[in-house]
Amino acid sequence: MPQHSADNPVRIAIIGAGAVSDYHHVPAIRLDPRSRLVAVCDASRELLEKRKSDWSCDRLTTDFQAVCADENVDAVIIATPNFTHREIVLAAAEHGKHVMCEKPLALNAAEVREMYAACQSAGVVHMTAFTYRFAPSMRYLRHLAHSGALGELRHFRSQRFLDWPETSWGWRQYKKQAGAGDLFDMTIHRIDFAIDLLGPLQSLCGAVARFAPRTKTTDGRDCPPSDVDDWSSLIAEVHSGATGVWEGTTLAKGYGFNGFGHEWAEINGSLASAVYRLHLPNQLMLGKTGQDLAPVDVP
Ligand SMILES: NC(=O)c1ccc[n+]([C@@H]2O[C@H](COP(=O)([O-])OP(=O)(O)OC[C@H]3O[C@@H](n4cnc5c(N)ncnc54)[C@H](O)[C@@H]3O)[C@@H](O)[C@H]2O)c1
Repeated sequence: MPQHSADNPVRIAIIGAGAVSDYHHVPAIRLDPRSRLVAVCDASRELLEKRKSDWSCDRLTTDFQAVCADENVDAVIIATPNFTHREIVLAAAEHGKHVMCEKPLALNAAEVREMYAACQSAGVVHMTAFTYRFAPSMRYLRHLAHSGALGELRHFRSQRFLDWPETSWGWRQYKKQAGAGDLFDMTIHRIDFAIDLLGPLQSLCGAVARFAPRTKTTDGRDCPPSDVDDWSSLIAEVHSGATGVWEGTTLAKGYGFNGFGHEWAEINGSLASAVYRLHLPNQLMLGKTGQDLAPVDVP
């Protein structure tokens, strides 16, 4: 792998120029002088025109195959709807491009295994975007868990409650396009937290439910009803012997909190408990036995 520098940056193409590329990926590329945005691909010509000025990029196309075959591109960021990830990852791997593909990687495990095998045999770097893992508070929680400061790690708990409108979620509300609903959109990050902190899961059971029909778009037009979950609850055993529970929904009325909703992810160890909250990325709640949980700044 060559060493990259500002004079020899990784040349990145974005495929899927929607919301997450605008608020995560393009700002991240700009932060690191060793990376450069060289091309943008999106199915919408109108959005491409907007991104031309938003992102100051002239190489624009609606054809992801052309981007994957482009000799001036080293790596692609794939941030399209879930049902398109497989095909684009396979094309990128075929042309030897490094791949950062958004979560959920695909619609099911069989697709993900195929994508993984293609990237492995092409010898390209490949990853996904469990972004919250990199919040300072989550990294500190990981440090405490792995350094033994919490004692034996016994239990993980995640609650993610949002108070979102019951109107259409667009492609996200159809199983064929999204794979699953809130479970693949939000709870998936929290399953990643647990695996990152405690190691692989051994067994899992749970329930999902759909309460909101979502037959109206935000501008009042009719649309086919949602066929994915908008609520889930899971219980797991971890290989290490620990346990875990997850609750997630976008239908928790009264849980607006300036758009952050309620996020509570904690580990209970034999010596102490530690809590991560999304809206406070530089602080944990910590408590040893006999104490009450109290805020602690990330050092
Ligand atoms: N890691 C995170 O925290 C995070 C946050 C939000 C979204 N995501 C993921 O990112 C992906 C995109 O989400 P979003 O919110 O940006 O969606 P979005 O609907 O805002 O944007 C998707 C874009 O992809 C384009 N597109 C669709 N098919 C295409 C194709 N074949 N070729 C090129 N462009 C195509 C659409 O025109 C659209 O502009 C999803 O997989 C989602 O789960 C991850």
